[in-house]
Amino acid sequence: MDMHEKGYFTEENSVEVVTGRNANAQNERLKQVLEVVTRKLHEAVKELEPTQDEWMEAIFFLTRTGQTCNEWRQEFILLSDVLGVSMLVDAINNRKPSGASESTVLGPFHVADAPELPMGANICLDAKGEDMVISGRILDTEGRPIANAVIDVWQANDEGFYDVQQKGVQPDFNLRGVFRTGADGTYWFRAVKPKYYPIPDDGPVGQLLGKLGRHPYRPAHLHYIIKADGFETLVTHIFDPDDPYIHSDAVFGVKESLLAEFVLRMDPQRAAEYGFAAEFWEVKHDFVLAPAQ
Ligand code: BEZ
Ligand code: FE
Repeated sequence: MDMHEKGYFTEENSVEVVTGRNANAQNERLKQVLEVVTRKLHEAVKELEPTQDEWMEAIFFLTRTGQTCNEWRQEFILLSDVLGVSMLVDAINNRKPSGASESTVLGPFHVADAPELPMGANICLDAKGEDMVISGRILDTEGRPIANAVIDVWQANDEGFYDVQQKGVQPDFNLRGVFRTGADGTYWFRAVKPKYYPIPDDGPVGQLLGKLGRHPYRPAHLHYIIKADGFETLVTHIFDPDDPYIHSDAVFGVKESLLAEFVLRMDPQRAAEYGFAAEFWEVKHDFVLAPAQ
């Protein structure tokens, strides 16, 4: 019998002893996960050789992370976001065929019951910010319009907060709406130009970012979830390429294909048609959905 089969633990055989103990796991996937995680974790500990105090610091950090979670706040997801793990899981699960729009993180601020609005509606209910009109088409990978696509959009307000972060301050469903395409696959709505904002940074993840010399900001973006029968659901954003944080998103959500063009229009006639007081921003962005597998 080898040392590890006897269950005697040494620095050298630590992985074999621990994973060997899981031999009777009923769930093969769980066994595989624990095998890989144990191997990588022990490798990290062997390379870092933490002191007992350092290890306790890590345990206390994770404890505080759990204690920060509540019905509205998921600090572990935020940790996964700032470590790039959320984007990695997203990339692995959304390998799109060529030509299809790319996905990015969902984030914590989506609400399931936003109102369905007529095309062209203005989703800005707090009258703050610079007017913007957004339009585009929902297409398949052959370039054909998709009818009856449901487009769920949400964004932060001009002060960098989502309505759900400021209940009682912002109107409910401020800067949210659901739109449905007609036969031509086009969509359009009015909103305000988004601004960069910090991810919730008053907890352990924010402290970690500070210690790492990192800022907590996400570059200005609009969120989209686009669903249509026969197609894969697309969870994505469009970003303002001129945002100061476009190359340093705190959660690594930016992809080159998601950069939109924000054009400032000085056109009094069109402004009046949209009900805007003066100049406005215009964004045109098409999305291509991958066929359902
Ligand atoms: C967001 O864009 O809403 C978001 C994404 C990840 C973490 C925090 C916020
Ligand atoms: Fe966001």
